[in-house]
Amino acid sequence: MELIETARGPINVSFGCAFPDPSFLPAKKMSAILGRAARISPLLAAEYQLPPGYEPLRRQIARRSPEFGCNFTHNNLVITNGAMEAVHLSLRAVAKAGDVIAVESPIYYGAMEAIDSLGMRMIEIPTHPRQGIDLNVLEDAIRKHGVKACFAMTNVHNPLGFVLETDRKRELAALAARYQVPVIEDDVYGDFVFGTGGRTTAKQFDREGLVLYCGSVSKSLGGGYRMGWLEPGRFRKTVERLQFTSTIGAPSLQQIALADLLASGGYERHVRKLRSAFERNMAIFREAIARYFPAGTRMTRPAGGFVLWVQLPGRASALALYEAARAQGISVLPGDAFSPGNQYPDYIRMNCGYNWSDTYDAAVRTLGRLCAGLPRVT
Ligand SMILES: Cc1ncc(COP(=O)(O)O)c(C=O)c1O
Repeated sequence: MELIETARGPINVSFGCAFPDPSFLPAKKMSAILGRAARISPLLAAEYQLPPGYEPLRRQIARRSPEFGCNFTHNNLVITNGAMEAVHLSLRAVAKAGDVIAVESPIYYGAMEAIDSLGMRMIEIPTHPRQGIDLNVLEDAIRKHGVKACFAMTNVHNPLGFVLETDRKRELAALAARYQVPVIEDDVYGDFVFGTGGRTTAKQFDREGLVLYCGSVSKSLGGGYRMGWLEPGRFRKTVERLQFTSTIGAPSLQQIALADLLASGGYERHVRKLRSAFERNMAIFREAIARYFPAGTRMTRPAGGFVLWVQLPGRASALALYEAARAQGISVLPGDAFSPGNQYPDYIRMNCGYNWSDTYDAAVRTLGRLCAGLPRVT
């Protein structure tokens, strides 16, 4: 929690968080849409939206689903408080305390903490920075360790940035079916696959309702709206009951507003712009890191999104860099946050979702300079 809090402040340059530049977010437009929803539907906005959530919004999400290879019906979608609730509900629906969850390594720390907080255990599956999760090792783990479920990011992995090949997504869904092991597919960054934005998912190959598909608009519109969704496959009833007993449902006003935005086509236009802004900025950040960090530094070449995974040279301590940078008003997120077995003590994750400016240039230069005097990890 301390690492995550530092990413937010008080700090001048936050490379530690995974949140796009505020100037990229359509805050004014969202205020207008929220205002209109509150004026036109004040009573609806004041009412609970019980699970599965506001039907017009579920219909809009179902309408978009062919963009990621699926053909959802609104009847099997649940609106959640961000993707985080979708992940949490999925875990609770398919496993219990003591069960083993197979996770990619490195893994998004929010999912890691969720699994841990539910008393579940994790088994880390080696995950290649371009090719993704090792499906042979995953299959072995399922056979040998009684894995109850798998958590995977198939598009724009956080922190590695890869997009899993379609054949591998198909194979992941086939593994789920062969061993009857649910897969929780987190597609929070899916809209930001560089290029045309078209993408595939493991969910599209799921014929047995074993893939629980999680999404949200946190990275495109803002995390504060807490708008996400879950297509829970065969676990819908359980998920709805679990949601009712924890948050009752997602906030009504935001659901009405988001349904409006999606219906207007404005979301599609916004995401297209955002995607190219991220691609541009990613190239600039990578160049700056190559210029300012010491020789031997390695970094990913993400296929989308806005985070970079950087390996410091000579086994330099990422935690030491985090401390030194913090003293200079800069945050980075050390690799410690991304592995239950602490396998990445010499890695950092950097947010490149900023509109490049002299401030970021100077901050990357400072980080590069700090890298020179770091202790090694043992
Ligand atoms: C991979 C991943 N999943 C889920 C979340 C949480 O998303 P939300 O804000 O929609 O709950 C994040 C946020 O950083 C994330 O990076």
